[in-house]
Amino acid sequence: MNTPEAAEKKLLQNGFLDLDIDPTLDLFEEINKLKKEKNAVVLAHYYQEPDIQDIADYIGDSLGLSQQAAKTDADVIVFAGVHFMAETAKILSPGKKVLLPDLKAGCSLADACPPDIFAKFKEKYPDHIVITYVNCSAGIKALSDIVCTSTNAVQIVDSLPADQKIIFAPDKNLGAYINKKSGRDMVLWDGACMVHEIFSREKITKLKERHPNALLIAHPECETAVLDMADYIGSTTGLLNFTINNQNKEFIVATESGIIHQMVKSNPDKVFIPAPPNNHCACNDCPHMKLNTLEKLYLCMKYDLPEVTLDKELIEKARLPIERMLEISAKLGL
Ligand code: 13P
Ligand code: SF4
Repeated sequence: MNTPEAAEKKLLQNGFLDLDIDPTLDLFEEINKLKKEKNAVVLAHYYQEPDIQDIADYIGDSLGLSQQAAKTDADVIVFAGVHFMAETAKILSPGKKVLLPDLKAGCSLADACPPDIFAKFKEKYPDHIVITYVNCSAGIKALSDIVCTSTNAVQIVDSLPADQKIIFAPDKNLGAYINKKSGRDMVLWDGACMVHEIFSREKITKLKERHPNALLIAHPECETAVLDMADYIGSTTGLLNFTINNQNKEFIVATESGIIHQMVKSNPDKVFIPAPPNNHCACNDCPHMKLNTLEKLYLCMKYDLPEVTLDKELIEKARLPIERMLEISAKLGL
């Protein structure tokens, strides 16, 4: 039976809720009812499956989602994204209940930077400050001076004195992109996103030959070889806005495929071609992001599980660098 106790037991056993759902239920209707009942807000990243994007109260990139999490007056934040994003929401709104439809929704980039190893790495550079990409654990944020996202990374680095020495973690591709844009020589942690590092320059070149009028738009988590070919580089929101504001009709999209749902909705007359990865799989899905489903979203709202919780001391330490990012972003009008 689907009692709260049974749900919790299943959750503990399986790591996620896989209870039976009455197939006659209209999940959109049920989720909307639960939102009202619980004063809950659903925040979704662009990489979520289309149904989740369509039921969300707010869809955005990492910066937009953090800004929403910091200002919402809802009692419950349902985070349709990955674990580090839900952690960031909890850090910014510690008094609220933060739910993540599947607790296993992690991130290869965040996993590539374990706090104990990073702390030792940091000790080697005592005169450097630490700027971290938001795609990292709360433990890494607690070791950082300023957090950034792909929207504000270059501007945040540019806002610091030219002679300021910097460690940038965990994404070496975004770090290399910032170094190039800002003329700096930041020390880079050796991490990468499993989705963005597999785009193939050779296959994109062939695709461009077949679609000579298509513009290549790329997320800065892509490797330098791909970014060097791009007509536009930006965060997911930046890429979406570019497709809306640019007159071109065809775009090759070098980021996770979920964003294409919003691109098509905003530009029904334009064509979006997912950039091909360097393997035999034709999809650019993030396996972590796609662990969340509409069914799990419904179950997590129904049972208030799984909840993301964090130690108070860790919240305090991790909050400062995120707040610095939000302050700088507000000053820059981002
Ligand atoms: P943005 O949301 O900043 O575009 O980053 C994309 C991403 O990889 C999130 O995991
Ligand atoms: Fe992490 Fe990459 Fe997935 Fe984003 S797309 S959550 S960076 S693995």
